[in-house]
Amino acid sequence: MPISSQSENSVSSEAVRVRLKDVCKSYGAQVVLKNVNLQVEPGEIFAIMGPSGSGKSVLLRQISGLESPDSGEIWINDRHPDLSRADQTRVAMVFQSGALLSSLTVGENVGLFLEEHRLKSKKEIGRIVSAKLKAVGLEGVEAKFPSELSGGMKKRVSIARALVIEPQLILYDEPTSELDPVSAVTIGQEICRLRDTLAITTIMVTHDRDLVQGIADRVAIIIDGKIVAIGTPKEIWANQNRKIKDFLHINFKFDNTIL
Ligand SMILES: Nc1ncnc2c1ncn2[C@@H]1O[C@H](COP(=O)(O)OP(=O)(O)OP(=O)(O)O)[C@@H](O)[C@H]1O
Ligand SMILES: [Mg+2]
Repeated sequence: MPISSQSENSVSSEAVRVRLKDVCKSYGAQVVLKNVNLQVEPGEIFAIMGPSGSGKSVLLRQISGLESPDSGEIWINDRHPDLSRADQTRVAMVFQSGALLSSLTVGENVGLFLEEHRLKSKKEIGRIVSAKLKAVGLEGVEAKFPSELSGGMKKRVSIARALVIEPQLILYDEPTSELDPVSAVTIGQEICRLRDTLAITTIMVTHDRDLVQGIADRVAIIIDGKIVAIGTPKEIWANQNRKIKDFLHINFKFDNTIL
C-alpha cells in the first residue's frame, strides 16, 4: 500500500534495511556471537532459528541497540542502532515474556512510552492506544489488567505497545512461544498483516517451524553463535547439512524422548 494512502491509524513510514558485518559478542570468557553477517531487506520477514543457547536473543539485543557488539558493525539503513537518539530509525522489540507491567492496565501499558515522554495530551494518548490495540485485533480491553488476559492477548498487547513508537523495524523474540496452535497462527497472521499494510521490516527469533514456513521470506540458522545457513524456508528445509537437518527434523514422542 502506498504510504500516502495509509489511514491515520497506520504506523511505519519507510521500511529499513538491516546489515550486520562480522558482529562478535562475548560475556567474560564465553564467546556468544562469532562473526555474524546478515542483511535483511526492507519490508522482509526474516526469521532466526537455532538451538537453545545459540545466541538468538543476544543477536536481537545487538540489533535493537540494547547492547553493543564487541566488534563488527550493525547498520539500520545508514546508521548504527542508538536507543538514545529518538529522532533516529524507530526500532521496537517485542520481548518473549511480553514484559507487561502487572500493576498497570492494558491501556496504561500500551501508552506508557508516550506518557513517560510527555509526547501527547491524555486524550490523544487514549486515542492512539485504542488505535494500536485495534491494529492487533483487540478492542475495549484498555481497562483490563494483564492478569485478566489470555497468553495470546498479552502477546498482542505487547505488539500494540511496540506499535506506539511507529516502528520501521520490529524485532520479535519468540512471538508464539507458550501459545496454543490457534493463537500462534493468529499472531503469525498479525505479524504478516502488519508487514503487508505498514511495510515494517520484521526480524523474528523463533522455534516455531510452522510459523517460519508459513510467513518468513527468509530464515537464518544460527548454531553455537555462527550463522550456518540463510535462505528461503524451502531452501533451508532442503539443506543437506547434517547439523541443520538434525535441528529442523528432530521430533519428540509424548514422553520427550527424541525419535
Ligand atoms: N547478559 C549475559 N551475560 C552473560 N551471558 C549471557 C548473557 N546473555 C546471554 N548470555 C549467554 O549467551 C548464550 C546465548 O544466550 P541467548 O539468550 O542468546 O540464547 P538463545 O539462542 O536466545 O536461547 P533460547 O532459545 O533458549 O532463548 C547463553 O549461553 C547465555 O547464557
Ligand atoms: Mg532466547
